[in-house]
Amino acid sequence: MDNKLTMEKLVSHCKATGFVYPGSDIYDGLANTWDYGPIGVELKNNIKRAWWKRFVQENENSYGVDAAILMNPGVWEASGHVASFSDPKMDCKTCKTRHRADNLIEAHAKGAVTPDTMTNEEMEAYIAEHHICCPRCGNFNWTPIRQFNLMFETSRGTIGDDQSKIYLRPETAQGEFVNFLNVQRTTRAKVPFGIAQIGKAFRNEITPGNFIFRTIEFEQMEHQQFCKADQSESYYNTYKQKAWQFLLDLGFNQSHLKFKDHDKLAHYAAAACDINYLFPIGWSELNGVHNRTNYDLSRHQEYSGKSMLYTDPITNEKFIPSVVEYSIGCDRLLLATLCEAYEEQQLENDTRIVMHFAPAIAPYKVAVLPLQKNLSEKAKDVYNNLRKHFMCTYDEAGSIGKRYRRQDQIGTPYCITIDFDSLDDDSVTIRDRDSMEQHRIKITDLKNYIAEKLEF
Ligand code: GAP
Repeated sequence: MDNKLTMEKLVSHCKATGFVYPGSDIYDGLANTWDYGPIGVELKNNIKRAWWKRFVQENENSYGVDAAILMNPGVWEASGHVASFSDPKMDCKTCKTRHRADNLIEAHAKGAVTPDTMTNEEMEAYIAEHHICCPRCGNFNWTPIRQFNLMFETSRGTIGDDQSKIYLRPETAQGEFVNFLNVQRTTRAKVPFGIAQIGKAFRNEITPGNFIFRTIEFEQMEHQQFCKADQSESYYNTYKQKAWQFLLDLGFNQSHLKFKDHDKLAHYAAAACDINYLFPIGWSELNGVHNRTNYDLSRHQEYSGKSMLYTDPITNEKFIPSVVEYSIGCDRLLLATLCEAYEEQQLENDTRIVMHFAPAIAPYKVAVLPLQKNLSEKAKDVYNNLRKHFMCTYDEAGSIGKRYRRQDQIGTPYCITIDFDSLDDDSVTIRDRDSMEQHRIKITDLKNYIAEKLEF
C-alpha cells in the first residue's frame, strides 16, 4: 500500500473509475450508503466467489445456505439482539449530532484505553475528566449515555403495531443456526460440519463516515463450524489460520495484518479474536473468529421449543453442538483490498496509479487494445473469443500509453495489443500490469495462458 494513501484519495479514485459511488448521489446521498459501479460489482463478485470456493467448495464437509433476510422476530429474541444489540450513544445538545461514546474515547485516547471494557458510567466519567468535546462543534454539552439498539425495524402488512414488527437481519449468522437441523438432515452431514452464507445485513450505525468501512447496509460472509465441545478450541485455531491464509492468498502483505484478542468476551464465548488491518484510518477490525460454545443452538432450542440435540451415529452420544464462527464483511474486505492494491508509481518519464489486485479478483482480466483503429476487426475477434471465458474490456480510444494507464488504474492484469504483425502471424503482445513486461503469444494460446494465471 502506498504510504500516502488517504481515505479521501481512495474515495475519489473509486468514484472516478467506477468502483464505488455515493448512494442516491443525485439526491445528495444518504449517509453511510454506497453503490458499487461497473468495476466495483465485478471486484465484489470475485471476492465473494474466492471466499465461497475457499470456505464451501474446498472446505471439508461445509455447505452453503441463502436464508431470508426477514426472519421470525423470535430469532432475535433468542440471539439476544433485541435485548442487547446496542451502542452507547450521546447527543451533543449544542449542534444536535449523535455520537458513540466508545468511539469518542477511542479517538481521544488513541488506543491507550479500551472502552469495550467500560460501563456507561465509567465512559461518562472518562469523557468528563478528559473534557472530550463534540468533534462536530467543539462544545462540551453532552446528554447522558443511552443505549441505542442497532436493528432496523420494519412492519409486516399495513398495521405498524408491535405484533407486526419485524427486523432486517443485523447479521447473517442466525440464518445458519436456524437451518442447522435442515442442513444436517438433508445432507446427512455428521458433526463436525460447517454452514456458510453470504448475504446482506443491516445495522443502524452512527458512524464517522470512513467510506465503506462501516455502513448501514453491508454484506457478510460467515461460516459456522458445528462441532463437539472438545473440538472447538482446535477449530478456533484452524479458522484463525484459514482466515489469515485467505488474506495472504488475496495478496495482502503480512505486515498490514495482525491478530487481536478480544479484551472483553461475551458471557457465553470461550475465545474471540479479530484480524485487524492497517487501513488509512489506522489498525481496525477486518474479520472475527469466535468460539461461541453451544450458546446459539441452546438458545434456539429454548426459544423455538425444537430440540437441537445431535446424536453421534457411532457413539450414540447426544449433545448440542458448539459453534466456531468465522465472519468477515465483504465490503470491508473489498475496502482493505482496494487499500492494499493501490499504488501511485513513479516511472522513468511518467507516473501511474496501479491497482495490484490478485488476478483472480481483478474486475477485468483482459483488455484488448488494437494499436490502430483499422485493426479493430481482428481485435474484436480476439475480444469476442476471450469474453466467452473471462471478463474482458475493449478500448481503441487514445494513445496506447493512455489506454495502458486506464487499465492500470482499474487493475486489469493483462493487456493484449493487436498490431499489424498480428494479421500475418496470428500472434499478439501481452503486457503484464505489475512488471509492465510484454511478450508475443499465439492467439490460440491466449485462453490457457490467462486461465492459468487466474487460478486461486
Ligand atoms: N455474526 C458475527 C458478527 O456479525 P461482527 O463483528 O458484528 O460479528 C462481523 O461482524 C464482520 O462484519 C466484521 O468483522 C466486519 O468485517 C463486518 N461488519 C460489521 N459491521 C459492519 C458495518 N456496519 N459495515 C460494514 N461491515 C461490517
